[in-house]
Amino acid sequence: MADKDTNNNAETVRHRLLFACLGNICRSPMAEGVFRRVADEEGLLHLFEIDSAGMGDWHKGQAPDPRAQKAALARGVDISAQSARKVELEDFEVFDLILAMDGSNISDLHDIAPLAGRHKIRRFLDFAPHLEEDDVPDPYFGGEAGFDHALDLIEAASRGLLAALVRENEPESTHAAPKA
Ligand code: 4NP
Repeated sequence: MADKDTNNNAETVRHRLLFACLGNICRSPMAEGVFRRVADEEGLLHLFEIDSAGMGDWHKGQAPDPRAQKAALARGVDISAQSARKVELEDFEVFDLILAMDGSNISDLHDIAPLAGRHKIRRFLDFAPHLEEDDVPDPYFGGEAGFDHALDLIEAASRGLLAALVRENEPESTHAAPKA
């Protein structure tokens, strides 16, 4: 996990995000890479610790699926250095938000979460409410187009998530309605 950390300066980190899917070789590694890129573009990467994990450990230690790597790289996101791991109980303490790619991930996460950590589980696409989809479909058993579609959804939700977290940190006064 340490090799995936965005930064080790605990004083600057404000948000600890864990992206979660089933196998941690397709969707959540792409989400980790895309969110990193989106935060970096806004000059905010130093505020984040970002990681990803899967519900199973079938691919433990493996790099992301070559199709996920290729599709992400085509958008300028290099995810080749990531290594798959399973969601651990400790994750519910370490991370502030656990962002599930689909409803099945949410249900699996609820099954293993300690009571005190359940509120951290969120549906990733809730941060892109303009999309019709609720789930990032699993592209593992399909063709390359599925990876591109997953990336479209992931990019939209990454921008929405970043905007939501930035808003959360704004002082109250900036939320005030303009005077008539
Ligand atoms: P992911 O896709 O959850 O997006 O990483 C999958 C990868 C592997 C498997 C299932 C889904 N699998 O069954 O091995």
